[in-house]
Amino acid sequence: MSIWSELARHQRSHEGRHILDLFDTPGRAKAFSVTCNDMMLDYSKTAIDAEGRSLLLKLAESSGLQSARSAMFGGAKINETEGRAVLHIAQRADDSAVIEVDGVDVMPELRAIRGRAYAFAQAVRKGRFKGQGGAITDVVNIGIGGSDLGPAMATLALAPYHDGPRLHYVSNVDGAHIADTLKPLNPETTLVIVASKTFTTIETMTNAQTARDWMAEKVADPGAQFAAVSTSLEKTAAFGIAPERVFGFADWVGGRYSLWGPIGLGLMIAIGSEAFDRFLAGGRAMDRHFCDAPLADNMPVLLALIGIWHNQICGHATRAVLPYDQRLARLPAYLQQLEMESNGKRVRMDGRDLDRQSGPIVWGEPGTNGQHAFYQLIHQGTRVVPCEFLLAAAGHEPGLAHQHRLLVANCLAQSEALLRGRTLEEARALMAQKGLEGAELERQAQHRVFPGSRPSTTLLYPQLTPFTLGQIIALYEHRVFVEGVILGINSFDQWGVELGKELATALGPLLEGADVSAKDGSIQGLIAYVRAHSQRA
Ligand code: F6P
Repeated sequence: MSIWSELARHQRSHEGRHILDLFDTPGRAKAFSVTCNDMMLDYSKTAIDAEGRSLLLKLAESSGLQSARSAMFGGAKINETEGRAVLHIAQRADDSAVIEVDGVDVMPELRAIRGRAYAFAQAVRKGRFKGQGGAITDVVNIGIGGSDLGPAMATLALAPYHDGPRLHYVSNVDGAHIADTLKPLNPETTLVIVASKTFTTIETMTNAQTARDWMAEKVADPGAQFAAVSTSLEKTAAFGIAPERVFGFADWVGGRYSLWGPIGLGLMIAIGSEAFDRFLAGGRAMDRHFCDAPLADNMPVLLALIGIWHNQICGHATRAVLPYDQRLARLPAYLQQLEMESNGKRVRMDGRDLDRQSGPIVWGEPGTNGQHAFYQLIHQGTRVVPCEFLLAAAGHEPGLAHQHRLLVANCLAQSEALLRGRTLEEARALMAQKGLEGAELERQAQHRVFPGSRPSTTLLYPQLTPFTLGQIIALYEHRVFVEGVILGINSFDQWGVELGKELATALGPLLEGADVSAKDGSIQGLIAYVRAHSQRA
């Protein structure tokens, strides 16, 4: 019997068991928790028991995880459909590291670019780099996907460490985004960073042109207030950005893994190089843990296995990411790209169809806001949604410690409620206390039953510092990698985004009046509506 079948059999044979019953085994919470430096992941509130865990670990071992990990860290071209190495880890490697691609050590160039980016960030922060109107007050990062989500998420996450100019992020091709962002800004004291790995992405290039036109209205040399981050130095030059303000990176850094290098320029400007170094150190610490810890104590491996258990074994299609940390508000969106662009694949690396579900649908919102929106379904809906809570032991607002206690209490209460639920008996007692009886008591009690036994994990960290954020992001990156290896897919390409881009390019002229007859009836109708109503508006 394959390990997948053994896992399925094991899951079926315990399907009706309440997760709470697992706590009858003494030491359950400790035995089903793992630590990495000062972070702790508690996965005791899942249906994974000792046998399930050992089967999952066998699955990881038999997937060739260890050799895949060595291949990635060693610079092998594991992104086979694009013929590229996968070396985002090089961007946070320590100063003595030697990492070779095609026999060439990539680290010296990487360090040199980081040094240049730090120096530029420092010049902006200290007012040595000036706009036409003097020191830079605002920085607008124009990028999308990996050139936006990571830096935007991290910039918000590390708000307590900001001591540079204000940061703004524009991504959407919807003109509303750039218009609303630029409106309150002074072009004479604004720096625009055009961040695009390829420097061809239509949204980014369109917004960059709009920003340049906006700046040209007030600034004699608008190009002088632009910087660029890209792998294509030819294209940044063609756009008119001087090489001293262009920061390159290699194509072996995937867009959604690129926050650690010059794509993080905005964050470097916001928090400075020392804090950025601590962020890198956090990522590096997680890398070390991922490489050195035995699989059974390895946080990214266990997190991946929990994901596999919930999605591919139990059939729970979605995963809710619920940071009880307002500054991680953009984490779910960031993880949507990281996880869904990486592991949303229908074909295995060898070209065969994937014979099980691909990666999960990831969604979420910070707590406690989500509690007043979608938690109803999580507690009483018919589908099971595995939940991932994230929580800091301490906030950054010493004067508001009482609010942080409330936040903590809410986070823990939600995981407890999901686990424990409320039985019909308890609901009846509650209704009786309220003075109900008979048929009305029965009817009302039914609505107040919580099935419980709903799985969740909780990731705890002391405080959301740059180091901690680095650990968290690297943890999720490696989790995605492990899931991808176990599924046998390539987590590092993204061919699924291409078709829509091609069709959008072809549709442009049709909106302006070209013949639509080759299109399906639905598209024809939608275009007719837009043509008619856009003119009226
Ligand atoms: O369309 C998807 C994608 O290619 C992502 O993978 C990438 O992060 C994003 O577009 C932006 O690409 P670029 O950085 O090249 O502008």
